[in-house]
Amino acid sequence: MEKKVVYSGIQPSGSLTIGNYIGALRNFKDLQDDYLCLYCIADLHAITVHQEPKNLRKNTLDLIALYLAAGIDPEKSIIYIQSHVHEHTELAWALNTITGLGQLQRMTQFKSKSQKVKEVEAGLLNYPVLMAADILLYNTNFVPVGEDQRQHLEITRDIAERFNSRYSETFTIPEILPAKVGGRIMSLQDPMSKMSKSDSNKDGFILIIEDENETRKKLKKAVTDSLGKISYNDDQKGLKNLIDIYASFSGLSTDEIVCKYEGKGYGIFKEELAEVVTLGLRPIREKFKEIRDDKAYLEKVYKEGAEKASYIAAKTVRKVYKKMGFIPR
Ligand code: TYM
Repeated sequence: MEKKVVYSGIQPSGSLTIGNYIGALRNFKDLQDDYLCLYCIADLHAITVHQEPKNLRKNTLDLIALYLAAGIDPEKSIIYIQSHVHEHTELAWALNTITGLGQLQRMTQFKSKSQKVKEVEAGLLNYPVLMAADILLYNTNFVPVGEDQRQHLEITRDIAERFNSRYSETFTIPEILPAKVGGRIMSLQDPMSKMSKSDSNKDGFILIIEDENETRKKLKKAVTDSLGKISYNDDQKGLKNLIDIYASFSGLSTDEIVCKYEGKGYGIFKEELAEVVTLGLRPIREKFKEIRDDKAYLEKVYKEGAEKASYIAAKTVRKVYKKMGFIPR
């Protein structure tokens, strides 16, 4: 039987946080033995917010090295750069013609991102259509992403169903594959908002690639509460978030963690949390350093990846064009 398909992507729009790691990246490698996995570097998505060209180039190579350092094996999975496979923009255009403007305007990420800019550009609005194209090109069954992407998955399913009912059965309807814990990691300084690299308070996030002492310092400063009691509930949002981080790096359940620290103070909990997090990130930090400067290797990975991805994507676009009534060349 053919393997089912897993697809995900990350934008090379800056350094990644442990939110990206826990919600998505760390889950990628475990899927490679059971599924055909495709992991893209979503550079076409990144430019929906202005990127300095030289930063975009650097961040793209960083992200390939990070995928490899996180254990994605290019012999098993397809790692590629989105802009190398032109079918993404072709399918996105076709899907734009069956996507409702109102639905795009109601997307929560569009609404929050458009509040932050002086002029809202069309790329930001059409962002979810490109993401739908990414996923639908490869007959994807499962999409491992954090909770903030759930709405994008829903619109992808809507677009696929609309195409299938208008032009006959074509696309597989994909499902979200949420992280077991930590689908939404919050800021260490403001547990009401998502951990994000664009946070102006640098103590709010931990980067996957940063100095261990930085990580320790930020965890020590993380906001908790004045109740002084280790428990996992919504009245103690800061602590709950830290327990999620602990759980995801240690493999312990949230209940086991609460039990382990019963009667102990936040100080000791945070100290041991810092130990668990830095130990957990050490292998990926070391591996990243080792491979980041091997440009020839990175190039080999993304070139071979693009070739394999293009082969599948071209077949889908040919089928879509034919169903829509385009005359083949
Ligand atoms: P991006 O680059 O914003 O984030 C990459 C992944 O990290 C997850 N994530 C989080 N998870 C938990 N807690 C957080 N604080 C947190 N912050 C980010 C995101 O949910 C995501 O899984 N549109 C996508 C990129 C993309 C894509 C795709 C994903 C492009 N095409 C096709 C899946 C399939 C994005 O902006 O992710």
